This record gives sequence, structure tokens and C-alpha cells, in this order.
Amino acid sequence: MLLEWIREKSFPVKAVWLEKVCHRLSDNPSCDVPSRFDIALLALAWGNIGYAAGLSYLRHVGKRAIHAKGTILECGSGATTLLIAALTLRSGTSFVVFEHNLTWYRYMRDLLDYLGFIHVTLVYAPLIDYADYRWYRIPKTLTDDDISLVVCDGPPGSNPGGRYGLLPTMQHRLTKDCVILLDDTHRSAEQKIIDIWRQYRCMKASRIGRFGTHSELVLC
Ligand SMILES: C[S@@+](CC[C@H](N)C(=O)[O-])C[C@H]1O[C@@H](n2cnc3c(N)ncnc32)[C@H](O)[C@@H]1O
Repeated sequence: MLLEWIREKSFPVKAVWLEKVCHRLSDNPSCDVPSRFDIALLALAWGNIGYAAGLSYLRHVGKRAIHAKGTILECGSGATTLLIAALTLRSGTSFVVFEHNLTWYRYMRDLLDYLGFIHVTLVYAPLIDYADYRWYRIPKTLTDDDISLVVCDGPPGSNPGGRYGLLPTMQHRLTKDCVILLDDTHRSAEQKIIDIWRQYRCMKASRIGRFGTHSELVLC
């Protein structure tokens, strides 16, 4: 409750700061990878310590988002959502985001509206039961079947199956060389998910970041 109150009260100041940072990121006619400086500014303006992506992951997400040829799907919204939104503002790239937490969804919705990121399809997608795991309820309105980049930071690890549900539920919508960026791969749960995915889908996996904190998986 206190955190929500603080979030609500600090919204106007945070939104103005984020607006300036996002403007720097979207004003990128030559499609350069965002500088370390701009990434650090975004991380500072965003805060949300404990949930937010690290600097090296953010930069990697930025690099891939700029060059994405098809739809970008994000699971779990936050700093990465604003980064991708800013980088795709002028490119016309389709960007869909699943968020399971209604309070957080509303906060992100307000922020995206304030920042003018109307091209982002932020979907409230509660977690539901599938076979032996829980994952996002896929909206019936989702028609994209050319997802070429997935930024996978949700659902939380406390959810049965964690992030596992991405591949069984969405693989028919992913392009044959789709790139999946998975955060937190220093954790054994995420490593296990990669191992299981690789048993039934050909993919090249590389761990990135000083301690392998995130991984890039490329379907093959
Ligand atoms: C680990 S966060 C990462 C999000 C994003 N990739 C980023 O860079 O910030 C994923 C999930 O955490 C939840 N979350 C993020 N910030 C939160 C907060 N301050 N309080 C509660 N839940 C939060 C949201 O439901 C979100 O889907």
C-alpha cells in the first residue's frame, strides 16, 4: 500500500523525467544502438530497484529491438517496455506487451499514455492454468504470427512453471529465426527452462552479461 501511494505521488515528477529520457532514445534517425549514457539515464529515471532490468540487459534489448523485422513481444512490463517503445516509435514495428498484474498494468498504461506511446499494445493478461504450468491468458485479439523478438522477463519465478509457458503457447507465432531474450539466467530455474525448451525445439543459446545474467536464444 505504501509503495503504491509513493508510486502515485511521484508519478508526475517521474513521468516528466522519463519523457526527456525517452525523447533522447526515440530521436535516433540513424538507428544507432542506445548509448550507455542514455541507458543509464533511463535506469536512473525508472528506479524500481529489485524489479528492473540491469544496464547490460537493457542495452542488449535495445540493440535487438532496433533491428527487429517482425512483431516484438514482451512478457512482463517495466523499463524494457519504455526502452522498446521509444526505439520503435518511428519505425512502425508492432510491439505487444503482456502484463499479469492489474495494478502494475494500470500504472504502465498511464505512463505509456503520458509518454505518447500509443503504438504499444499493452495487454492485461492474467495468469491462467495450462497443462502443468501457469502462463498469461493469450488475448483473442492477438493476431500477430510474425514475432521475431521476445523479451521474456515474466511471469515471476513464484508462478508455477515460471517463464516456461512461452514456448508451448506461442511457438506457432514465432518466426523461424526468432530471438528470445531471457533475463535472470544466472538462476537455476531459468537455466532449467532453457534446458527443457531445447529438448523439443532447436535453438542456439548464449549467455550474456558478466555473470551470465541474461541469455539470447535464437530459434533454428
Ligand atoms: C521482473 S519485472 C521486469 C520488467 C521489465 N523487463 C523491466 O525491465 O523493468 C516483471 C514483472 O514484475 C512486476 N513488477 C515490476 N515492478 C513492480 C513493482 N514495483 N511492484 C510490483 N510488481 C512489479 C510486473 O508485474 C512485471 O510484469
